[in-house]
Amino acid sequence: TVTDAPVRRYGGLKDQDRIFTNAFCKHDHGLKGAKSRGDWHRTKDILLKGDAWIIQTIKDSGLRGRGGAGFPSGLKWSFMNKPNWQDDKRPRYLVVNADEGEPGTCKDREIMRGDPHKLVEGCLVAGRGMNATAAYIYIRGEFYQEASHVQQAINEAYADGLLGPNACGSGYAFDVYLHRGAGAYICGEETALIESLEGKQGKPRLKPPFPADVGLFGCPSTVANVETVAVAPTICRRGGAWFASFGRERNQGTKLFCISGHVNNPCVVEEEMSIPLRELIDKHCGGVIGGWDNLLGIIPGGCSVPVLNQQKSNEVLMDYDSLKDAGSGLGTGAVIVMDKSTDIITAIARFSQFYKHESCGQCTPCREGTSWMMNMMDRMVTGRAHVREIDMLLEITKQVEGRTICALGDAAAWPIQGLMKNFRPLVEERIAAFRASEDAVGFGGHLSSQM
Ligand code: NAI
Ligand code: SF4
Repeated sequence: TVTDAPVRRYGGLKDQDRIFTNAFCKHDHGLKGAKSRGDWHRTKDILLKGDAWIIQTIKDSGLRGRGGAGFPSGLKWSFMNKPNWQDDKRPRYLVVNADEGEPGTCKDREIMRGDPHKLVEGCLVAGRGMNATAAYIYIRGEFYQEASHVQQAINEAYADGLLGPNACGSGYAFDVYLHRGAGAYICGEETALIESLEGKQGKPRLKPPFPADVGLFGCPSTVANVETVAVAPTICRRGGAWFASFGRERNQGTKLFCISGHVNNPCVVEEEMSIPLRELIDKHCGGVIGGWDNLLGIIPGGCSVPVLNQQKSNEVLMDYDSLKDAGSGLGTGAVIVMDKSTDIITAIARFSQFYKHESCGQCTPCREGTSWMMNMMDRMVTGRAHVREIDMLLEITKQVEGRTICALGDAAAWPIQGLMKNFRPLVEERIAAFRASEDAVGFGGHLSSQM
């Protein structure tokens, strides 16, 4: 049971309230199938209601960015329509972040495979809201099949008059372009993505200026996640209040969750925000392998957020506030479940290797810090360390956190902090076991003399 957790207002998302189908890849992803599911229905009417109406509807819905940061979407899109924006003659762009690379995260992939028209229609609706002339979809290089589905959807939309100089017959001109990345995780960071789109190395820019002031090709731009953009048409059709009725205050709407690891049926599923984590896993994944007593911990939002221990996993709701209060975060909604067979120290060390590999290297705390964190975590894995190095490692994470150009530095620090907060005794046991084994073969004192 869920105890001491904040009460949520609604229970259970009904099929008729799902924006996506939960049956990805089992239906026709082309235009005919999309229209049969309600996509492109009265899009012209939405466009004719104008930018202010679209932005207000998104604000009313409570939608927050689904890429991980959770910034209020209506507010972010409104930055493109500052007073007297018409006096600025630069073109304006929507940039869709489809460079889904966060380990454990595979929700945007499902949208682009199974519902690419929702994304293309979303580009048009969101683009109209921010008075953009075009959308650039930057898709992860490895997503070959997804890129072909999205390109097919774009081609079909042009052929049907849904995009182009008179999109949907509304008189609004709008183009959509697809650009394939080349496999760098850091290009999922919005300013690195912009650099990469411009043909340069994918290295994050300092913010401010934010992309809404100086973005793609020096023009006002908004970078938004695939899921955020893809839900916009349905919100406009069904109303902001409808979307806002799911979840809790500040944590509204429906959300795609990707659940992997030690569950009986890993899946990507749309549920309402604020569903208890335990209910999400029991309802859609058939529970934890070996039962909940066999659970070690859960990473609730992709590998950039701290791991929760068993007790916290039992208590939290899947939303921004509940997970923040529990010392973690909703991130991308990628739930990684680990049972007691998991070597959690090795798992977190693997993340450290990942961040070290993916650091673009342009700022010192991240470039140097990720190497230090990786090397020290590798020693924690074997136990070939001194107990006091745990605090030294934590100190390094503090020196990196909040001191870098982009969030990759924080993302490298947080999993280690979560490990030490929730599983420190395991790390200490590993070190003690190694020292005991050294003593047994007559090497006692070897490590301490090195320190
Ligand atoms: P952020 O909090 O810096 O920014 C969020 C968004 O709000 C950005 O688009 C930013 O431009 C905008 N924004 C924030 N303050 C603003 C202001 N004052 N004026 C105008 N715009 C403003 O977070 P960031 O770096 O974009 O994202 C970090 C998150 O991304 C992490 O929490 C992680 O969970 C997630 N992530 C997701 C991945 C994926 O594959 N989906 C990969 C890696 C990380
Ligand atoms: Fe590059 Fe890391 Fe600095 Fe981000 S934090 S800009 S990835 S070196």
